[in-house]
Amino acid sequence: MCGIIGYVGYREAAPLLLQGLKRLEYRGYDSAGIAVFTNGSLVVRRSVGKLGNLDQLLHAQPVHGTVGMGHTRWATHGRPSEENAHPHRAGKVVVIHNGIIENYLELRHELTAQGRVFSSETDTEVISHLIDQYLREGRSFSEATRAALRRLEGSFSIVTLCESEPDTILTAKNATPIVIGLGEGENFVASDIPALLDYTRQVVFLDDGEMAEVTSAGVAFFDFHGQPIERTPRQVTWDALTAQKGGYKHFLLKEIHEQPQAIIDTMRGRILAEQGDVSLGELDRHPPLLDTVKRITLVACGTAWHACLAGKFFLEELARIPAEVDYGSEFRYRHTPLDKNTLVLAVSQSGETADTLAALEGGKACAAKTLAICNVVDASIPRKADMVIYTHAGPEISVASTKAFTTQLTALYLLAVYLGRRRGVLEQERGRQLIADLVNLPALVQEILGRERTIEKIAKKYGHATDFLYLGRGVNYPIALEGALKLKEISYIHAEGYPAGEMKHGPIALIDDQMPVVVLLPKDPVYAKTLSNMKEVEARGGRIIALTDAPSPELEEIAWEIIQVPTTNHLLMPLLLTIPLQFLAYHIAVYRGTDVDQPRNLAKSVTVE
Ligand code: F6R
Repeated sequence: MCGIIGYVGYREAAPLLLQGLKRLEYRGYDSAGIAVFTNGSLVVRRSVGKLGNLDQLLHAQPVHGTVGMGHTRWATHGRPSEENAHPHRAGKVVVIHNGIIENYLELRHELTAQGRVFSSETDTEVISHLIDQYLREGRSFSEATRAALRRLEGSFSIVTLCESEPDTILTAKNATPIVIGLGEGENFVASDIPALLDYTRQVVFLDDGEMAEVTSAGVAFFDFHGQPIERTPRQVTWDALTAQKGGYKHFLLKEIHEQPQAIIDTMRGRILAEQGDVSLGELDRHPPLLDTVKRITLVACGTAWHACLAGKFFLEELARIPAEVDYGSEFRYRHTPLDKNTLVLAVSQSGETADTLAALEGGKACAAKTLAICNVVDASIPRKADMVIYTHAGPEISVASTKAFTTQLTALYLLAVYLGRRRGVLEQERGRQLIADLVNLPALVQEILGRERTIEKIAKKYGHATDFLYLGRGVNYPIALEGALKLKEISYIHAEGYPAGEMKHGPIALIDDQMPVVVLLPKDPVYAKTLSNMKEVEARGGRIIALTDAPSPELEEIAWEIIQVPTTNHLLMPLLLTIPLQFLAYHIAVYRGTDVDQPRNLAKSVTVE
């Protein structure tokens, strides 16, 4: 998510740090800052908005020195503002951080009770205070940092500097990346390779639970208990653009592969496994708002609207609240009766989609409660809503949405469990099972990612078709719609999603021996019904591509292709079935040579009607 760069050597640090951050701009950010040692003191400069603002600030108030670090922030805790921008200082220590500290509230309370004063709303600031606290107990910079690291729960990569050791950069990581760049008489730290490529191609990637002490003379590696570790550098051969895409050919493919981590990040700090429950701090602060909710209206556009369609199933089954789903563009002009017992739930990756925003505002105007599920912190939609749940998918660069969709489904599932438990309609035992299934889900998604080559072969076989039909039932019908939308968007092939049972009421007329029909067939209570729909397709010559967790000889007889996925509870099957459909659309688009990341006529954020 955020961009990190650190430098120790003989060059002027400030311009180098700025240049490194520019190389990481593609990751998205809302504020930026640097810290540089100037005559033994750490000088911090921070600004909101684009790097140009920081550049201007540095022209007005230059900082000179050859050791420093820089950061671009993509807000997770606390709105984008100068106070929340990194680096964060406490006493002699400054810290920059990427990731989420799950236990930061607990640490913040502890540190506040000890008299520490916080100047930001971020989770990061607890790290600088912790290190400074341990320094004051007489520990060295390294020991103090390790002691602080051992207290942190969650995902983090950090870089820290301390005025008592002006020649040293310390960096550490757990779950989010840190790469060390090795030079001659200089060394570098970064969150991502593009920041380093102008200076070196010799790199070492830190593993989880490792830290590095970086000086101009060399780099030493340790675990969080101070045990030395041997690391061998490797040579990077990527060009700058490939490096931005993490070695993948397209951002879309990178983002498909990021889904296990994005789902983990979305549930991080929200799971109460033992209690079979979910903690949504954002909602806990508004309990009376939710107590009286009798009906939920979900509003969104495009892919987010498909997430809402599946969310309706989650909310109705687990929380027993009647839910309806509407397009933002339709809802805003419909005179639907709303009152204080209605919750208008707006789902949006960007948080800026004009129709979704207007729908939310319409809800507010009728005194309905409003909740946003959003990926971009402090965007217009979460700012307008009474409550917000962030998805923490990280910046989505490809225009077609992938990881935003699966994390929206994750957030909706969490919300349904949360409401179900609070309303007393979801028993603890079932809650435990639902949560255990969710915790296990990223591993299953990872397993499907390993089947990419199989799906690529299928894509090449059917990539010449002019039309596709996607069929699914129940909670998987929205996934049929999403599969069809992905194909349309990036390969420009006409595709339609339909509820499998509706096929014979019209679309069956389209089927001939040229038509690939993608059928979602999980082993659920309507399995037999969908199977008989498949037979109807087969009888008309349609070429069936079946996605299932339960292959059978009967299925093998009628399907041209079978893509097997692992199994989970019926409400989470949509998340698994989505992944092969993303791969199918992606590889068909590559086969047809379209502009995968920036398809024609589409914009990432639709801020006009
Ligand atoms: C499809 C896609 C769009 C968006 C839609 C809503 O791949 O990306 O359909 O889902 O424009 O955007 P957000 O979620 O930003 O409101």
